[in-house]
Amino acid sequence: MSLPKSDLTKKADQRTAMDLGPVLPKTAEVRDGHLFIGGVDMVKLAHEQGTALYVFDEADLRDRMEQYRESFAELYPNSDVLYASKAFLNKEVLRIANEEGMCLDVSGGGELAMARAVGFPMERVFVHGNNKTERELREAIEAGVGRRVLDTRIELGRVSRIAGELGVTQKVLMRITPGVEADTHEYIKTGCEDSKFGFTMLGDFAFGCVGDVLAAPNVELTGFHCHIGSQIFALHSFREAVQVMVEFAARVKERYGLEIADLDMGGGLGIAYAADDAPSSIREFAECTAAAMKEYCAEYGVAEPRLLVEPGRSLVANAGVTLYTIGVMKTLPNIRKYVGVDGGMSDNIRTALYDANYEAVIANKAADPRTEIVTLCGKHCESGDAVVLDGSLQHPDLGDIVCVFGTGAYCYTMASTYNGQPRPAIVFVRNGAFRVVTRRETYEDLMARDI
Ligand SMILES: Cc1ncc(COP(=O)(O)O)c(C=O)c1O
Repeated sequence: MSLPKSDLTKKADQRTAMDLGPVLPKTAEVRDGHLFIGGVDMVKLAHEQGTALYVFDEADLRDRMEQYRESFAELYPNSDVLYASKAFLNKEVLRIANEEGMCLDVSGGGELAMARAVGFPMERVFVHGNNKTERELREAIEAGVGRRVLDTRIELGRVSRIAGELGVTQKVLMRITPGVEADTHEYIKTGCEDSKFGFTMLGDFAFGCVGDVLAAPNVELTGFHCHIGSQIFALHSFREAVQVMVEFAARVKERYGLEIADLDMGGGLGIAYAADDAPSSIREFAECTAAAMKEYCAEYGVAEPRLLVEPGRSLVANAGVTLYTIGVMKTLPNIRKYVGVDGGMSDNIRTALYDANYEAVIANKAADPRTEIVTLCGKHCESGDAVVLDGSLQHPDLGDIVCVFGTGAYCYTMASTYNGQPRPAIVFVRNGAFRVVTRRETYEDLMARDI
């Protein structure tokens, strides 16, 4: 795979770090030409801790959790916000999510194990996933998770049997694909009809399956779930999804006599990856969802259920950055300028996977304007290994520290050890201090499982 051709007419935007607006973590500032986050000098931190390095602004992260919780609590009191742990997961973020009163969305046995390891209250955990193994289902039910989100009728049989063997009743939601086309990348669009996830509404299949779930022993159906996709800017997609789901709930009420207790509208709120991106705010998302719930519940004659949302990206993406050191450079006249950093697709696969777009600055030249167009390429054995394609950057020199913004979501959790690259450490910064919350992987770690 090679890179898309460079647009040689593109001009550098002359912005300095502080001109990058919505992509910056809340506490970003420039002091004496250096980028600071959480009161910590990113250049000094990179030199002390090594690069590549993931850095999280803890104040920003907590602030977004609070905004979600408070907005929903005010606008729709019967609600809960689940942190979608697939976006970014280590023990510290789980502890913070718990402290901040979040519920939790886990979708793999490993995610659940980590939640258990930090003592996350199991009744606040929702377990997702389209193909849970017998072991994963058993572990979740045994642990006493709050809800299992059923994805297929096959799984219903398994959950019902396992719950029976364990002598418990498992509360479940059914994941429905509402056929709403969200305005986002194909691969992260999940609620449309051609999807591997959930019970399809086509041919009224999902509706028929409600009867199967209600008839199954050892499970209690409390409501429905949908997730229409990720990185969504157009709030009307969420509104449409609420309408489809509430109408579905009304038909269920009429036919089966079930008044649902929970309606989980998934995650998906978009964030700014580029300085000119203008996503809706958390507050606007809450306003839209809460209003749609009230309006459609009244219209379709459904008692307002608990509203659940499952944000991931919009909680963590802009709180996180990645620091790299420039190791090599190469200019190909009339083709592009490559600036080589000490990471790449192993710590951030999103550019190769979705043509993601990031803003970057040189942390030791943060007050300077970005005067060049460069491709920040990684160190891996793939031509398509790039973190930023044709982005503006300050004039680069070998040894400069590059900071890429907006890398807090789906970078660490999708990281690999490709080419034997140990995964970066994770550092949280706050009030002028830092703490390493996940240490850097070592060569020994790379071999630890080999026999
Ligand atoms: C079921 C479910 N819930 C929540 C999320 C989180 O989405 P986002 O990070 O876009 O908020 C995802 C992401 O793919 C998901 O699949």
